[in-house]
Amino acid sequence: MREFEMYFREAMRSENKLLDRVTHYIIRRKGKQMRPMFVFLCSRMFGQATPSTYVAASLIELLHTATLVHDDVVDDAQIRRGFFSVNALWKNKIAVLIGDYLLARGLLMSVDNNEFKLLHIVSTAVREMSEGELLQQEKSRLLNISESVYFEIIRQKTASLIGACCAAGAAAANAGKEEMERMREFGIAVGTAFQIKDDLFDYGYGKDIGKATGIDIQEKKMTLPLIYALNNSDKSVRKRMIDTVKNHNTHSDRVKELIKTVRDSGGIEYAAKKMEDFREKALEILFTFPQNEARNSLEGLVQFTIHRDK
Ligand code: IPE
Ligand code: IPE
Ligand code: MG
Ligand code: MG
Repeated sequence: MREFEMYFREAMRSENKLLDRVTHYIIRRKGKQMRPMFVFLCSRMFGQATPSTYVAASLIELLHTATLVHDDVVDDAQIRRGFFSVNALWKNKIAVLIGDYLLARGLLMSVDNNEFKLLHIVSTAVREMSEGELLQQEKSRLLNISESVYFEIIRQKTASLIGACCAAGAAAANAGKEEMERMREFGIAVGTAFQIKDDLFDYGYGKDIGKATGIDIQEKKMTLPLIYALNNSDKSVRKRMIDTVKNHNTHSDRVKELIKTVRDSGGIEYAAKKMEDFREKALEILFTFPQNEARNSLEGLVQFTIHRDK
């Protein structure tokens, strides 16, 4: 990860003053870097990390960073990784352009290294992320999201990139096609658990996570705890919940009341149970591979995904 860090920093460097200032700001507030860890460990499942592994890890972390910069514009979020978001400091226009720049740098990096297989794996995931984000926007306007649509959204917007990490890591170490696809399925299962955890954070499950909580409702984003509560409440309660999301989503007392209703309905436990189901699924796939040091570490990373506190 130390070597990766140097590689990653280099990948963002720019001669442009404003770009340099913003990318410096981003680098100083690094995230958990779980995606590069998945890439490296999935390579090591099949041997050693290769130069391709480093390109894959840097490319994916760059794209992930780009999507977070854009996500905070879309979600109107002011805090990211415990500090002000790029849009909070430099406004939306700059944040949109910075996100595009990071995306372009990532894509160029794979072209410059002739990593076309990697480019295909990652571009597919980026396309899916955009589709997932758009589906989410559409549903937040109509407020008619079902559990199966929720799972489709999180598979597209989050799990597909983690699946790409695992597939790219395996491919970089010359794993076979079947093994690569099996690693991708593993990543998709962990990624799904990962996003359920993220959605639970928004209901105040955990504290001081480095970003605001309660903003999903503000953004009319209906996630698993709320979907469960809606499906398991009396008509009048359900009506009031919908009314809060639709018409009083920025009214803090109404949002607090809604969060309490969700908690009392068992929505939190339900989502936590689903998250554990995906963890089990991920481990089941992981254990179809022979045991080695990398597999043990991946098992730890799966556990971290659901026990993490930010
Ligand atoms: C946040 O991802 C975005 C989601 C897909 C929920 P991370 O929680 O991995 O973000 P950082 O990189 O560690 O900040
Ligand atoms: C995750 O979406 C970001 C992307 C996959 C693009 P969220 O909006 O749920 O993530 P956070 O909670 O802001 O990190
Ligand atoms: Mg979002
Ligand atoms: Mg967001």
